[in-house]
Amino acid sequence: MNYRHAYHAGNPADCVKHALLVLLLRALTAKPKPLFVLDTHAGIGAYDLAGTEAGKTGEWRAGIGRLRHAPPPALADFIALTGTGDHYPGSPAIARALLRPQDRLALCELHPDDAATLKRRFARDPQVHVHRRDGYEALTALLPPPERRALVLIDPPFERVDEFATLAAALKAAHRKFPTGVYAAWYPVKHRAPVRDFIADIQARAIADVITCEILFREPLDPARLNGCGILIVNPPYGFESNALPVLEALRAILAEPDGASRITRLADA
Ligand SMILES: C[S@@+](CC[C@H](N)C(=O)[O-])C[C@H]1O[C@@H](n2cnc3c(N)ncnc32)[C@H](O)[C@@H]1O
Repeated sequence: MNYRHAYHAGNPADCVKHALLVLLLRALTAKPKPLFVLDTHAGIGAYDLAGTEAGKTGEWRAGIGRLRHAPPPALADFIALTGTGDHYPGSPAIARALLRPQDRLALCELHPDDAATLKRRFARDPQVHVHRRDGYEALTALLPPPERRALVLIDPPFERVDEFATLAAALKAAHRKFPTGVYAAWYPVKHRAPVRDFIADIQARAIADVITCEILFREPLDPARLNGCGILIVNPPYGFESNALPVLEALRAILAEPDGASRITRLADA
């Protein structure tokens, strides 16, 4: 396991993921019923943009650095939640900030050091449970939750060549056990072919009510670069697509190059 999120926290793709995560959490916490949030690939929870790792890549400057400099109204909620200064939250800190007293958060992280950091961060929080375990395995082990309402974030590092296939199979298995859960799976767009295959794989698995929200930072011509990213969402909350459109557009306007693009595509009807 070579991937460490501290090098990439707050970069453009992280901001896309977290801005949409905030929208999903806002929609799902609008109803008073308890919500279970499962973050299968959690990282260390929050990041120091002045730290050694963030300083080595400087990736955050093109992401949250730009957004904080000129925050557009559509992103105000997300940007405010990220705080100020050198602090940048990971998905666990964002989810925790939006949890109500009746909600629970389960975090899985496999890297031993990162899992230990995450455990320390939430050690005294009775609403958060940290598991040092395989997040894919946790999908079927921890679902369905007693609350019967859940948001599941699947955010793997895409270090392995078979990650897209693993992700599609894991989603299908989780959906079979818990078909009413809301699933949000992040994926990179380096070039078009692997994404096309992933989408076709998902469509072949006959899961209903699926959309993708994608941003291309530029035309995906050089597969060595992260040219964009997407989030595939199963069972998006009511009205999510119309709320997500201006958010994606605002992200594209600030984070993408002139030949970038943003779009929401419906893959399967409800
Ligand atoms: C992209 S990062 C997660 C970032 C985090 N979700 C956020 O938005 O702040 C992916 C994380 O997954 C961890 N990881 C890799 N394989 C895993 C697995 N099979 N199960 C759980 N965690 C895993 C990595 O150590 C890394 O911390």
